Amino acid sequence: MAKPEAGTAARILGGQTEEQLLNSFFVLYKTCRMVDENNATFVNQFENFRINFDMVAKKHQQVTIKIVASHYFVNDTMVRFNDQGLSGAAGVIAEWRKLGLGGIRVAGDASADEIRSFFRFITSIRPDNDNLESLAERLRTHGLTNVELLSMKAVDTDRSAISEEARQRFRVMARKTFFRAMNVVEEVMVSTDQGRDINVAKTKRVVHSLIDQLTRDESSLIELTAIRNFDNYTYAHSTNVAVYSLTLGIRIGLDRTRLSQLGFAALFHDIGKVKLPTDLVKKPDAFDENDWLQMQRHPLLGAKTILRNLKFDTHTARAARAAFEHHINNDLTGYPMLHYKRREPGLFSKIISIVDTFDALTSGRVYLKKNLAPDVVFKKMRYQMTVKFDPFLMQLFNDIIGTYPAGTLVLLTSNEIALVLTNNEDKPACPIVKIVGNTEGILEEPIWADLASPEHNDRRVVRQIDPDRYSLNVSDFVLS
Ligand SMILES: [Fe+2]
Ligand SMILES: [Fe+2]
Repeated sequence: MAKPEAGTAARILGGQTEEQLLNSFFVLYKTCRMVDENNATFVNQFENFRINFDMVAKKHQQVTIKIVASHYFVNDTMVRFNDQGLSGAAGVIAEWRKLGLGGIRVAGDASADEIRSFFRFITSIRPDNDNLESLAERLRTHGLTNVELLSMKAVDTDRSAISEEARQRFRVMARKTFFRAMNVVEEVMVSTDQGRDINVAKTKRVVHSLIDQLTRDESSLIELTAIRNFDNYTYAHSTNVAVYSLTLGIRIGLDRTRLSQLGFAALFHDIGKVKLPTDLVKKPDAFDENDWLQMQRHPLLGAKTILRNLKFDTHTARAARAAFEHHINNDLTGYPMLHYKRREPGLFSKIISIVDTFDALTSGRVYLKKNLAPDVVFKKMRYQMTVKFDPFLMQLFNDIIGTYPAGTLVLLTSNEIALVLTNNEDKPACPIVKIVGNTEGILEEPIWADLASPEHNDRRVVRQIDPDRYSLNVSDFVLS
C-alpha cells in the first residue's frame, strides 16, 4: 500500500485524554466482572470512565475504541497505551480476538444507564460460547441501539490509519532514547576505566526512558538494535541487551521497580570487560584458547566492579548478580565454573543470558566473529534451549522478536527489498515493512506495507538478506 495521505485525523497521536479513556474503560471492564454496579469501586470507576468518555464524545459525537494491527485507537487517533499493565487490557483483547471483535462504538449521547447496561452486557460475553452475530442480535434485543460492535474485518480496513507519520514520531523518540542510553553506557564504562564516579542517577533515568518508550511502542527501539556498524559496538551491545531484556521483562509482567533494576543490570552486564586488555575485547580475529580464558574473567570482574564502585542498594545487588551469572547456563555449565553453592541463576541473569547471546550472535562482533541472521540464531538457540536457556523465556523472546525482527532487510516475492518495521505476532511470516528498493534500485519514496493485509497477498517474504552482500547499510534505512 502506498504511504497514506497526510493530514487526516488518523495521523495524529492521541494524548492523555485518550490514554485515560482506554485505561478507565479496561479497568471498569475488569471491575464489572467482579462486583455489581452498586459497589463503591464500580461507582467510582464508572464516574471516572464517564468523565473521560464525555471529554472525547464532546469532540467527536461518538467514542470508538478499536484495535488495529495491535495498536489501540480512540476514534481515528492512535494512542500510546500499555496493555500489559494493571488495566488487564491485553486479556480483554485476547477474548475479543477469539470472538472476531475488533472494537466498539458508542454514540456520544448515550445515557449513563445505557453505558452501564452495555458494560454488563459486554462483560458477560464468553468467547467460547458466543460469536459476533449472536452478540449483535442480543445487543439489539437489549435495546442498546447506541452501541455498535465492530468486527475485526471492519476495523482491519483501517490498518492504513497507522500512518507512516505516526510511526515516524515514535521512531524519532525511540532514536533519542536509544542514543542517550548508548551515551550513558559509554560514560559508565569510561568512568569505570578511569576510576571516576559513575553517575547512577543518570543511568536510572535513562532506564526509565527506555521502559516508557518500550511500553508505548517496542518495535521502534527493537529496530535500532539492528544497526550493527557502530564504531564502538560494546556500547551498542549493552544498550541492545537492555532494550531486549526490558521488552521481555514487560511481557512477563514485571512491575516498574523490577524493570528499572533489570534495565540497570542489563546496562552493566559486561562492565567487567573494562578491566580486560582493550586489545582482547576489540580483537578482530577469532579468540584462541588463552583469549577465552581471559575473557571468561569478565563476569567476576564485573560483579566486583559494581560492588566496589557503586553505593550498595537493590539495584546494585541485582546488577552484580546478573553480571556474575549471565554466562552461567540453565544446566549450571558455562562460566564462571561453580564449584560449590551451585545455585540456579536468578531471573534477571536468565533473561540477560538469552538476549545477550542473541545480540552477540546476530552482531558477529562479540566472540564469534561472523554475524548470523536472526532466524538462524533462534534455530541455534532453540536447539540448545533446555541446556543453556530457560525454555519459557526463550520461546517468549522468539515470539516477540519474530521470524523477521524489526530492522532486518528482507527480499519479497515481488523482487522488492523491504525493511521490517514491526513483527505481526499473529502472523510472524507477514511483518509490517517499509519497501525501500526494487529491481530498479533504491526507491525515492519508500512504500509502507502490512504484509498480513489481503491487498499484499502477492508480497511474501522470500528470505532475509545480508545487507553486506548487497552493499546496503541498515542504518541508512533505519535512521533515514
Ligand atoms: Fe558477557
Ligand atoms: Fe554481553
